[in-house]
Amino acid sequence: MSGAREQFGSRIGFILAAAGSAVGIGNLVGFPVGAAKNGGGAFLLMYAIFVFAICLPVMLAEMSVGRKAKKDPLGAYRILGGNSTGWKLAGWLSIITPFMIAVFYMVITIWILGYLAEVFMGNLDALANPEMFGQFINSPSIFGYMAAVIGIVYLILQGGVKEGIEKAAKLLMPSLFLMLLLLVIFVLTQDNAMAGVKFYLIPDFSKITAEVVNGALSQAFFSLSLGMGIMITYGSYIDNRSDVPGSAKLVAITDTAVAFTAGLMILPAIFSFNPQTDPSQLSESSIGMIFTFLPKIFLALQATIGYMGASIVAGIFFLLVFFAAITSLVSIFEVPVAALMSEKDVNRKPALMILGVLLIVLACMCAMSFGYNDFFTSFTSYAGTQKSFFDIVFDVFYETILPLNGLLICIFVIYRWKKHNFNEALDEGAPHYKGSFFEKYVDISVGTFIPVILFVIFVNTVALKYFGVSLFG
Ligand code: PHE
Repeated sequence: MSGAREQFGSRIGFILAAAGSAVGIGNLVGFPVGAAKNGGGAFLLMYAIFVFAICLPVMLAEMSVGRKAKKDPLGAYRILGGNSTGWKLAGWLSIITPFMIAVFYMVITIWILGYLAEVFMGNLDALANPEMFGQFINSPSIFGYMAAVIGIVYLILQGGVKEGIEKAAKLLMPSLFLMLLLLVIFVLTQDNAMAGVKFYLIPDFSKITAEVVNGALSQAFFSLSLGMGIMITYGSYIDNRSDVPGSAKLVAITDTAVAFTAGLMILPAIFSFNPQTDPSQLSESSIGMIFTFLPKIFLALQATIGYMGASIVAGIFFLLVFFAAITSLVSIFEVPVAALMSEKDVNRKPALMILGVLLIVLACMCAMSFGYNDFFTSFTSYAGTQKSFFDIVFDVFYETILPLNGLLICIFVIYRWKKHNFNEALDEGAPHYKGSFFEKYVDISVGTFIPVILFVIFVNTVALKYFGVSLFG
């Protein structure tokens, strides 16, 4: 599309939009459960170190590449990579990955909207039935919810960067913070809540194994929306006067604070429901927690606050998760849309239409992977496990290519774009960054141990996922 590149209207708008992308299901459910199962305060500490020591520098790399090139990831890798074929390939990975992750994230968002609607219609008791989830995800009503989610994402994105993404973030993010606080206050005043807080926070370093370390790092990486071209794309919508290191720090702090606070909501809720809970028995997946475990806990609240009260609490929870999912979905879908717009000179609305249709087709294939359709349900098998179409998208793009993309951007900024250009780009608009300890740290880490760590994660995932071999014993 010709004409000036769209931009965020304010620094706070940019920070909220980036934080909106970062804050998602991973923060609200994935992190609390991961922490409770894997050493409480010890996990928290390790996670926070990973966010600031490893993920934040990668975020700076992504944002500065975007701002410098003023392009989508494909264009950014092409321009700053001097048209080399290898780097163009990295650019392609940076737009295909978010597109495919958008597909599976979309399916989960559809389920969340469905549960929200059910609670709203007074059906919390039905949701608490363990059979409900399996029935719900295989019912034709999911296609109706899919239409609604697509409609909402379309409405936001067709408004463009300032009137769409930024406005939505300014509305949804503060509402999200407020709902989270309300729920935390409510849960902490329930009986036995403190037992949950204890389990959540008391450090147990003996739980920290190589696998837990790997999991915490992957979780932090995903949580900050890295490796998906999102921060490159959002970075391309800010001007050279804005402070990239300062903004990125705020995004990382917000994301971590929300994850931490969500733990103060989820764990005490579980313990207040059953003081004897053994956290090691909690479901490994966020999906299991959101759709089967938590509805049961909400329903149990009816003993103290009545069915209506319990439904209100559940409704606020699902709305909170839905808002978090929508701002993440918007950010991830914007990446291929921005690429199609600038690479092929297509306007925003037709770009949304074309990619939207493709997204719907793939999301339907994923949504039918849970028994609705045999072909997609038992799509293939590897490493001795049968895999559905949904599993493949998840394994290949989320588990495998995400860390690879992180590795590539690190190598790209230091060895292709060059260190001094990277530093100069970060200095622009950030007068205190130059010469700071943080600058030296970013400069060294992005060129040395961060790519090494990401490489190890990548190799380990490939060995484990596709060959059934664990490198960590
Ligand atoms: N950061 C999101 C989370 O924690 C993950 C995500 C971001 C997923 C953007 C998709 C798109 O859940």
